[in-house]
Amino acid sequence: MTNKLKSIAYQPPGQFEETRYEKIHNVIFDNSVDGSKIVANEIATLIKAKQQQNELCVLGLATGSSPIKVYEELVRQHKEEGLSFENVVTFNLDEYYPMAPESIHSYHYFMHQHLFNHIDIKPENIHIPNGKIPKSKLIEYCIDYDRQITAYGGLDFQLLGIGRTGHIGFNEPGSHINSGTRFITLDPLTRSDAAPGFLGIDNVPRAAITMGIKTILQSKRIVLLAWGNAKAPIIKRTIEGPMTSEVPATYLQKHPNTTFVLDEEASMDLTRIKTPWLVKDCQWHNDLIKKSVVWLSEQTGKSILKLTEKDYNAHGMSGLMAQEGDPYDINIRVFNQIQHTITGWPGGKPHADDTSRPEREKPYKKRVLIFSPHPDDDVISMGGTLDRLVQQGHEVHVVYQTSGSIAVSDEQALKYANVILQYEPDNQDLKKIIRDLQTKEKPYEDTLPVRNLKATIRRQEAVSALKYLNVPLSQIHFLNMPFYETGAIKKKPLSPADVDLVQNIITKVKPHQIFAAGDLADPHGTHKVCLDAILKSVDQLKTEDFMKHCRVWLYRGAWHEWDVPQIDMAVPMSPDQVLRKRKAVFYHETQKDGVMFQGNDPREFWVRAEDRNHQTAEKYHRLGLADYEAIEAFKRYHF
Ligand code: F6R
Repeated sequence: MTNKLKSIAYQPPGQFEETRYEKIHNVIFDNSVDGSKIVANEIATLIKAKQQQNELCVLGLATGSSPIKVYEELVRQHKEEGLSFENVVTFNLDEYYPMAPESIHSYHYFMHQHLFNHIDIKPENIHIPNGKIPKSKLIEYCIDYDRQITAYGGLDFQLLGIGRTGHIGFNEPGSHINSGTRFITLDPLTRSDAAPGFLGIDNVPRAAITMGIKTILQSKRIVLLAWGNAKAPIIKRTIEGPMTSEVPATYLQKHPNTTFVLDEEASMDLTRIKTPWLVKDCQWHNDLIKKSVVWLSEQTGKSILKLTEKDYNAHGMSGLMAQEGDPYDINIRVFNQIQHTITGWPGGKPHADDTSRPEREKPYKKRVLIFSPHPDDDVISMGGTLDRLVQQGHEVHVVYQTSGSIAVSDEQALKYANVILQYEPDNQDLKKIIRDLQTKEKPYEDTLPVRNLKATIRRQEAVSALKYLNVPLSQIHFLNMPFYETGAIKKKPLSPADVDLVQNIITKVKPHQIFAAGDLADPHGTHKVCLDAILKSVDQLKTEDFMKHCRVWLYRGAWHEWDVPQIDMAVPMSPDQVLRKRKAVFYHETQKDGVMFQGNDPREFWVRAEDRNHQTAEKYHRLGLADYEAIEAFKRYHF
């Protein structure tokens, strides 16, 4: 389905093969980089067309994580291709209230940092709601914001993100379709999503000024961006659900020229992606059959082997019956496929027939390379499997890709610094670190010595956890990939130096198995960059002899989990093994109790990971497979 969409990539609404479930034109890209480039191109084309006609181009702009890559591409086109913004006028969607424009939390700051400081837009053409307007003048100020947009002839193009509440701009649930720019109280979910950036929910403003729904709907063209699986449920409700003030983004169903630009993860819950057999006739291939049978089992509450022809027909799968015939054959085939993913021998079982096992028997003692983006993803996501691999005699290497220093709080760093100071009262370097920490101006920006201390703390935590799991010190590697070492949340793009580090360690260890994080929902995108470096390295090394015998397995777990049909290897854990894994995670003390980067899930990492491992086991059991305490899941990456 996605491939087909790619070929019609960005046709305007109207020319799109809509499904009966969808009320908004949307296109799906493999990833946010490709999607962002297309959107940036549309904006650039519009700006240039207006230039040729000597007209102003009036853009409505959004902040947040979604549009960042669009702005990066526009800046690149300005710097490298001479795209000029001299004829551009911008109106931003919103600003927190109260909020000083100079604050690093302001949308004013965001827009300058990501776009305005790097292009030739005239400062007088930039409009961002002012979070410092006195309350007594707010109503007048908001009316005037809309008046200014109208005076420019309205917005030519409006860029939007979407909140998990279904907000566009800060039009939270309850917003009226006729609303203009106004003061609004933020939804608790929106505030909790913003909390990591503000060092806790208590610091997040309770209100904002937002452009209204009516103002947005008057734009001539609207493009909404959504990336990542956290947006999947709200994207489905917005595109397929009824138009309702409970999900203000559904008002976009009324707009004749709106496109949603999605990545695969954000589109995951759309009916035509999740259950295409409900939408149209399908080409039934093996993966789709597996996916649909698992779905059918979940829908009916029956285990796979109990599914009947009636169940298939009643759930839009008669086409599969027509193609494959006997439902019982399908049931057995899918059941066996899932059964064969289960193994207590993640490195292969010695002296066993391995024709239908996820891993080869030989060589029995394998060299295993486990990549961990941060120092803790290894044990959080595959602690049970790591433990087994060591116990079963494999040579397990763990490679920490980034230092993870930014996620150590200042309080933790000060605690350690003060402990050392008790023993070394004259240590001037340490005193400087303490001074730096106590006098720091920007919350997430650390000096190099402070970063080093924080990195050392995380390194020690990782070493202690692996010592507990009996991994020798000589098999623990810290890459400190340079893209991460900015001292701030914003990271540098992946560089050849990063890829070289990864490639070198692969070449040195010559692994039979590589485990890597395929978990792309982390809040700052670090896992994605780390995976890109591994996949690039693997691609560059694929002709090497040792790589021909290497299998790559992707784990998830810190942020989300593979769905059952995606799993190629399921490693069960006993209750005791779950406890060992928990203890290993506990060694990462700085990442326990009120961690700095919690993401959307308020639970601690070990609770989330355990919960996901239990859930996978329960799902297997409900399908009719054995009843395990917990399961860690892996998907094979074919290169
Ligand atoms: C930002 C804005 C919001 C965001 C939305 C999604 O100006 O108006 O509606 O677009 O909250 O935020 P991200 O992109 O951070 O997921």
